[in-house]
Amino acid sequence: MDKIESLAKRRGFIYRGSEIYGGLAGTWDYGPLGVALKKNIKDIWWKRFVEDRSDMYGVDAAILMSSKVWEAAGHVATFADPMVECPNCHHRFRADTIEYGKDGFQHCPDCYKHELLGAPRMFNMMFKTTVGAMEDSSSTVYLRPETAQGMFVNFKNIVDSFHPRLPFGMGQIGKAFRNEITPRDFVFRTREFEQMEIEYFVKPTDWQEHFELWRKEMHDWMKDIGLRNNDVYELEVEPEDLAHYSKRTIDFEFDFPFGKKELYGLAYRTDFDLRSHQKESTVNLEYIDDVNKEKFLAHVIEPTFGLDRTILAILCTAYDEEEVEGPASAEGSGVAKETRSVLRLPKHLAPVKIAILPLSKKEELSAVARPIFDALKKDFVVQYDETQSIGKRYRRQDEIGTPYCVTVDFETLNDKAVTVRDRDTMKQERIAIEKLPEYLKEKFK
Ligand code: GAP
Repeated sequence: MDKIESLAKRRGFIYRGSEIYGGLAGTWDYGPLGVALKKNIKDIWWKRFVEDRSDMYGVDAAILMSSKVWEAAGHVATFADPMVECPNCHHRFRADTIEYGKDGFQHCPDCYKHELLGAPRMFNMMFKTTVGAMEDSSSTVYLRPETAQGMFVNFKNIVDSFHPRLPFGMGQIGKAFRNEITPRDFVFRTREFEQMEIEYFVKPTDWQEHFELWRKEMHDWMKDIGLRNNDVYELEVEPEDLAHYSKRTIDFEFDFPFGKKELYGLAYRTDFDLRSHQKESTVNLEYIDDVNKEKFLAHVIEPTFGLDRTILAILCTAYDEEEVEGPASAEGSGVAKETRSVLRLPKHLAPVKIAILPLSKKEELSAVARPIFDALKKDFVVQYDETQSIGKRYRRQDEIGTPYCVTVDFETLNDKAVTVRDRDTMKQERIAIEKLPEYLKEKFK
């Protein structure tokens, strides 16, 4: 994890939030490459689960929602974790993450393991704020702790605007906020994070069939973003551990360096949310079957994908180190061995697809390299880099997962060809400049 965190910072993927002020626990800022990786993931998720499907409707609901939403959804009463406090150092912990000692008691992990922790009390994780100039209980609102409710409260709008027939779903990507007691493990558990969520509405009798369909969809998605099958585990959540809205949940756990932990979830939320909102808002949220005119509340299957955990799982899967001969640029040179670190990202996720690297800053090389950059940037995200030695530049591109480096050298001036280096094999091929766009398009197919 340390290596991944340090690479993420060094190469401009992810920085500590408010870093120059010592950091703000549980917050992280995405730098240029992190934003690009995030965007690639969001784009393919949105295309796959919203745009490419005729049964899905995309929404982007407000982050600030009426407190009534959270009262109805049960979050005001139950969205809480058990918290324990050390009587000595006053550090607080999530009670369910602290193991019991041999003496049968929980001890403070920060106080030399001596101090006994008291009885847990429930701590509500929603961030509260106020709207408007008056600060009283009527102005209290919450930053949403899940994007899901933004879809339930728009159920009627979608039905009225588009008249969809069951089954149909809504999809949303956006920020969620939770005042986690112990944010930890880099972007795994943070206080501000992004979710990609689907609420899929079905006839009550059909929930099992759709649960299974979405279970397969989620596995297919994980495969397509490059996660290895044997790093992902399904955990059937025990009835006593289910969230207050769920009748069945499968957690998809990923083998992170700090242990097997939840990556995604698939829940059968029954009609809990629509029923609660109907009751609280007094707006009829029933669906009317246009064949037999039957009225009922739709049931919901919810596949939920944490975006930041997706990024972490992808980085953990892609990160690799290997021994290479000599400077990483000149394989086979017979010079002493060195370690090359490389992000073997799936090509469609790589933030930079191609790097154009003129061997030197000399005018005659940039006169050839710049037009190559201009031609390729129409179809790819391309980076132009002429700083430092070519070895260091290869190393940088390997570390950010760029699938191909195109080197323009002095020979290019004679043979009108460039060297294309493959990130994974480090093999180099000489390609004529005029054939380069087609050659690369083929590689990215
Ligand atoms: N709408 C259902 C829901 O929010 P959840 O299991 O509480 O369910 C869904 O959260 C996903 O959001 C998780 O599987 C995880 O990927 C992500 N997530 C939850 N809490 C998080 C946190 N504190 N930091 C980063 N990601 C988190």
